[in-house]
Amino acid sequence: MSFSDQSRKTIIEPFRIKTVEPIAQTTRQQREGFLTDACYNPFRLRGGQVTIDLLTDSGTGAMSAAQWAAVMLGDETYAGSESFYDLERVVQGITGMKFIIPTHQGRSSEHILLEAMNTAGHVVLANSHFDTTKANVEYLKGTPIDLVIAEAHQPNNVHPFKGNMDLDKLESHLKELGDHVALIIMTITNNTVGGQPVSLSNLQAVSALAKRFNKPLILDAARFAENAWLIKQREDGQQHRSVRAIVRDMFDLADGFTMSSKKDGLVNIGGLLCVNDEALADRCKSLMILTEGFPTYGGLAGRDLAALAVGLEEVLDDAYLEYRIASVAYLHKALTSIGFPLINPSGGHAVYVDAKALYPHIPPTQYPGVVLTNELYLAGGIRGVEIGTLMFGHPHPETGVDCPAAMELVRLTIPRRTYTQSHMDYVAEVMADVWGNRHQAKGLQITWQGPILRAFTAKLAPVGSMSSV
Ligand SMILES: Cc1ncc(COP(=O)(O)O)c(C=O)c1O
Repeated sequence: MSFSDQSRKTIIEPFRIKTVEPIAQTTRQQREGFLTDACYNPFRLRGGQVTIDLLTDSGTGAMSAAQWAAVMLGDETYAGSESFYDLERVVQGITGMKFIIPTHQGRSSEHILLEAMNTAGHVVLANSHFDTTKANVEYLKGTPIDLVIAEAHQPNNVHPFKGNMDLDKLESHLKELGDHVALIIMTITNNTVGGQPVSLSNLQAVSALAKRFNKPLILDAARFAENAWLIKQREDGQQHRSVRAIVRDMFDLADGFTMSSKKDGLVNIGGLLCVNDEALADRCKSLMILTEGFPTYGGLAGRDLAALAVGLEEVLDDAYLEYRIASVAYLHKALTSIGFPLINPSGGHAVYVDAKALYPHIPPTQYPGVVLTNELYLAGGIRGVEIGTLMFGHPHPETGVDCPAAMELVRLTIPRRTYTQSHMDYVAEVMADVWGNRHQAKGLQITWQGPILRAFTAKLAPVGSMSSV
């Protein structure tokens, strides 16, 4: 089904550009210097050193004219901001949740909720925990367990819902772990395994199990609209339903959700923490005063709340979602035709390259994913992000050698409404050069790492160039 003219094969960006921002154009020599200064970790690069930034789709999208207009109308009252009540009405209307709590971003929603649910010493079961969720569970002395279906780890398997929970595994964990399980989390779409969606029928089955074992079901709903669109496209019986109706079904199955509003909220900052249980909402509101501020602003300005209220409605537009998912599929198709091993099928917000398959000569302990991000930056000033052993691996307590992650991926994440088709053509052209040089690429070693979420700050160097510390 297409919302653009049926006789055209080109799905156009359903907007025109009203404000422009120049992007950096650099030489290879300059980029070599920038990357050395950044200790071979593209997270350490400055914005002005990057030409096309595909590091993340988080807070990097363009706001609409209507959102900027709402910004001017934001109510900056400290307690009881009218912008909060507008946002509350919109979120309740879309999701049906009773208690709406704004936060400054997704990870603070996670931290507050997990603390309020007293997860210390308990297990959290998820299809896949996003890295901040995993880190928060562990920081609060809980144990995160991922139970995604096996197909999720088979890059060439074109299962339409590779974000799904393995229902048999979930049931056996619930039986075996009993009271040790604090809650169940469903991340929609499932970022960790490639922006892959969760089907409505899988969510329904997870919800039924959660009810049977009396466990709360929480959605990590950062990309709820993209997930709903992919349900509409791929799930039997959903094609003729509205995205809004599918979204509502998804939220009706849950007891609450955390959301980084920097994705499908179409804003540059913000988060939501929403639950149906009043006592839990009260505990969250008490905790949030420590880190976020008063519960009607949650660490945000009134104008941020106002822009979010508009963004949450705009993201449900069929023409927008059709273009959004088509733009990811466009890059996916271009890279497939060059020969890149990718996660299939094309997913919600990014194209994921299988760096282990691209660089079979570089072992996981030499971070093939980070190597690819380095090559990409050097070749054309493009920044992607490793989702592999630097992000998820950890040093073995005795040997100090890294235990590798399940996969070595590089995510090329497409910011919302930001880049055009010619930018994607440029990315494909640069990637063709990277493909041509793949046999010459060399591994990296860590020279410094922090204790938590090391991928953001780690320093690396080419293997053999210096000893690690
Ligand atoms: C699925 C998912 N959950 C949670 C988060 C954390 O959100 P934030 O970056 O707003 O803290 C992210 C961010 O990328 C995400 O992708």
